[in-house]
Amino acid sequence: MTTSSPRAVLVWDAPVRVFHWLLVASFAGAWLTAESERWRLVHVTLGYTVGGLLLFRLLWGLIGTPPARFANFVRGPQAAWRYLRSLTGPRPEHHTGHNPAGALAIVALLLLIGVTVATGWAAYSELGGEWLEEWHEGAANALLAVVVVHLLGVFVGSWVHRENLVRSMLTGRKKAVPDAGIRRAHGALAAVLLAAVLGFWWLQWQSAPAAGAAQSEGVSAARAKHHDEDD
Ligand code: HEM
Ligand code: HEM
Repeated sequence: MTTSSPRAVLVWDAPVRVFHWLLVASFAGAWLTAESERWRLVHVTLGYTVGGLLLFRLLWGLIGTPPARFANFVRGPQAAWRYLRSLTGPRPEHHTGHNPAGALAIVALLLLIGVTVATGWAAYSELGGEWLEEWHEGAANALLAVVVVHLLGVFVGSWVHRENLVRSMLTGRKKAVPDAGIRRAHGALAAVLLAAVLGFWWLQWQSAPAAGAAQSEGVSAARAKHHDEDD
């Protein structure tokens, strides 16, 4: 065993980081466009993006770099509780990758993303009644609640460990012994992920009906009807 002291080493590979920030942007966009019929296609596009990102992360959680693998960071509620209790003691447990409590939140986030996207898709495809829309909205609200818990966890963790976790999610680097780091960032795969998402957005943009055209069609149809009634 090497006796090396902690320094900033690469922990989060590039695909994990690109996944995370695309997820944040798409989730925020899906929320902002959720209510209006006018923005429905943007909402659905961002929702599908979230779904695609989920599939990517599930796969990467099986074959990715060690800190990205579920088997290496998902622990039971007992481990999470032990970690949380240690935060109030003199020696808070420090984990190089996700801590066990953060990991629980991540599992909840991924599950709720799955339910939100599936119910959104089913509602959009008119596979059920109004109940599906209500389930979709309920799942999205539950997801938002866990996001709030996630953010609280990130800020509390940063404060307790005197380590800026948000910056780590940007740079990939965390304080750890060099042996705990990863050797490859997998930048090429992250670039493919980013290109796939941008390509999907571009395709959706190209195939979308021109908003003006759709609207003016509606307006001229209404005008024609009005004229008919006048005659
Ligand atoms: C501006 C808002 C956000 C910030 C600053 C943020 C920050 C972070 C940080 C620092 C981590 C790493 C935690 C650690 O060190 O263990 C993380 C992980 C994660 N966050 Fe966020 N987060 C944000 C929003 C979101 C949202 C909206 C979602 C989901 C809808 C989300 C889902 C996740 C997931 C799934 C992970 C695990 C990353 C992985 O291993 O792939 N985050 N976040
Ligand atoms: C993270 C992903 C998503 C989030 C956070 C989200 C969030 C929401 C929310 C909060 C609403 C309720 C708006 C309201 O009426 O107040 C909504 C409505 C809707 N969403 Fe999503 N959504 C997501 C993904 C999707 C996907 C993937 C689809 C379809 C493929 C979709 C289709 C719809 C449709 C059709 C409605 C309108 C339902 C109705 O008429 O009440 N959503 N979404």
